[in-house]
Amino acid sequence: MTHLSGTEKSHYVQGLFTRIARRYDLMNRLMTAGQDVVWRKEVIRRAGLRPQARLLDLGAGTGDLAREAQTQQPKAVITAADFTLAMMQAGRKPSDRFGWAVSDALTLPFGEAQFDAVVSGFLMRNVVDSMAALREQFRVLVPGGRIVILDTTRPRRNLLSPFIWIHMHVIIPALGTLLSGQSDAYTYLPDSTEAFLTAEDLATRMAAAGFEKIGYKRVMFGTIAIHWGEKSANG
Ligand SMILES: C[S@@+](CC[C@H](N)C(=O)[O-])C[C@H]1O[C@@H](n2cnc3c(N)ncnc32)[C@H](O)[C@@H]1O
Repeated sequence: MTHLSGTEKSHYVQGLFTRIARRYDLMNRLMTAGQDVVWRKEVIRRAGLRPQARLLDLGAGTGDLAREAQTQQPKAVITAADFTLAMMQAGRKPSDRFGWAVSDALTLPFGEAQFDAVVSGFLMRNVVDSMAALREQFRVLVPGGRIVILDTTRPRRNLLSPFIWIHMHVIIPALGTLLSGQSDAYTYLPDSTEAFLTAEDLATRMAAAGFEKIGYKRVMFGTIAIHWGEKSANG
């Protein structure tokens, strides 16, 4: 699947998330041993939301980051946006106090400088054109606005590499097949991680898109990265 590009890749990604939508949250918790909850808290903390801050959760899926933002800053004005309707439908809860928007990350249906922060969880490795997605996030941010990106990343080789390989290529696909019945969906995860930018390269692209004060950290034995940055206060 990693050989696909352009519209073919977009359609594949939409189809994949439509098929696994109902099992998505459960699989996330199991694959990360519940750690994704901890990373989401950090992502929202790094977004630095003040009361009334406008937050975009891009590629929101079932809305876990938006929900965490609602918990940390109940007065924030939050929009959860995704291009797969089934993910949003599977995630919606009566207690949600944020809006949902069907949106493609490459052509956001929002004007310039509409958000104080844009966060994304496991979106960037799925988009067809990461540079275009970064530019769109830059465009919709106010000057001084923050971007925070959570995604899988290629770990550096170390003593744990064989175990990480087994987790990614054997355990996750087996678990995914068992729980969702969709074997290709969970071979897509390791394949797309390996095809994605390194953490260093993603930081370089963020800078090329115009972001400043860029930083990142790796977690989960180097297989997950959190990147952050700011749009210059001068725009
Ligand atoms: C792995 S899920 C992540 C969901 C959620 N953010 C999370 O943290 O669990 C990736 C999501 O990105 C969405 N996505 C992928 N490409 C997209 C695009 N170009 N525009 C909008 N959403 C996209 C998919 O539909 C899917 O819901």
